[in-house]
Amino acid sequence: MTLVRAADAAAIEDAAARLARGEPVVFPTETVYGIGADAANRDAVAAVYRIKQRPSGHPLIVHVLDGASAQRWAEWSRRAQRLTEAFWPGPLTLILKRAPDAPAWACGQESTIGLRAPAHPVARALLHAFARHGGAGIAAPSANRFGRISPTRAEHVVEDLGEDAPLILDGGPCEVGVESTIVDLSRGRPVLLRPGGIPVSQLAAVLGEQVLERDAHAPRVSGTLDSHYAPLTPVEMVDADEVPGRVAQLRAEGRRVALWARSVPTSIADVGFAMARDARTTAHELYDTLRRLDRSGCDRIVIERVPRTPEWRAVGDRLRRAAAAGR
Ligand code: TXA
Ligand code: MG
Repeated sequence: MTLVRAADAAAIEDAAARLARGEPVVFPTETVYGIGADAANRDAVAAVYRIKQRPSGHPLIVHVLDGASAQRWAEWSRRAQRLTEAFWPGPLTLILKRAPDAPAWACGQESTIGLRAPAHPVARALLHAFARHGGAGIAAPSANRFGRISPTRAEHVVEDLGEDAPLILDGGPCEVGVESTIVDLSRGRPVLLRPGGIPVSQLAAVLGEQVLERDAHAPRVSGTLDSHYAPLTPVEMVDADEVPGRVAQLRAEGRRVALWARSVPTSIADVGFAMARDARTTAHELYDTLRRLDRSGCDRIVIERVPRTPEWRAVGDRLRRAAAAGR
C-alpha cells in the first residue's frame, strides 16, 4: 500500500528518520514534488534513480537549507553569493563546480553539482529534521517517472509511481507549479539551462550582467530533452485564431478533442478547460491540467499558444516540450 501522510510534525520526523536510514521519501516543494534521498548515501540515491526509471547519467539537484550548507559541496563565487542572497530559499537551482568530497553519484558523475534551497515550509522542516540526524543535503528529482509530467499534488505521485512510491508527505498543491530556474555558474559567464520559477530578467538584474542562453556546449539536462513533461495523448500547440478551425478539422476526422484555451470558447471541443489570463496562475495549474487533459478520454489535446513574453517563458517552454513528444 502506498503511504500518503499529511505533512504534520510527526510525519516530517518520520520522513527524516527514513532519509537517515537510507530510504527515499517524497516531499512537496514550492515548484513540484520531489523524490528525495540522503545525498551522501550512494545506495539511497541509486534507489531514487531506480524508482524514477531515470538513466544514471542524469544529475539530480541537491536540496539544502541555505547558502552556508551549499558551500560545503561546491566552489562558491561572488555570483553564487549574490543570487542566493536574492532568491534563496526559492525556485532557483545553481550549477557550480563540485567540491572534491561532494557526492558524485548524485551528480551523474559530472564535475559540477546542482544546488537549491527550497522555500516550501514542509521541505524546509524536512531539511531541518534531517540535519538533526546528521544529514547534509537531500538529492531529489521531480517525483515522476522519467519523461512524464511532473507532480504538483500528492495524488499525482500516487498516480505515477503507484506501488513503487515511498512515503509521500502531502503538503497540498505546489504554489509555483513549474520547476526551478537552472543557471549554470560553473563556466564563467552565467548560462540559463532551464527557464522556471524565477524570470531570467530578475537574475540578470541581481547579477548586473546578462544571463546567456544555453548553447551546443551546455551539459546534458534531462529537462531539456524535447520529449519531456509529456502526456500520453498527442498534444498540439495552436495559435488562438487557428484554434476553432483546427478543432473542427480534427473532429471532422472523427477525433475526440480536449482543449485548453484562454481566448477561444472551450465548448467547441469535446472536453474543454479554461486557461487563466495570467502566467503565474497558468503555471500553478499547468501540470494538473495536462494530467486532466490526458485523462479526458480524448485522442488529441489542443492547447492555445501562450504569449511569447518573458513572464510566460517557463510555461511556454513546458508546453512546447509536451507538444514535441508526439512528433
Ligand atoms: O524545481 C525543481 O528543480 C524540482 C524540485 C523537486 O526541486 N526538481 C527538479 O529535478 O526539477 P529534476 O531532476 O526533475 O530536474 C533537475 C534538472 C535536470 O534537468 C538535471 O539534468 C539538471 O537539473 N541538473 C542537475 N544537476 C546538474 C548538473 N550538475 N549539471 C547540469 N544539469 C544539472
Ligand atoms: Mg523532472
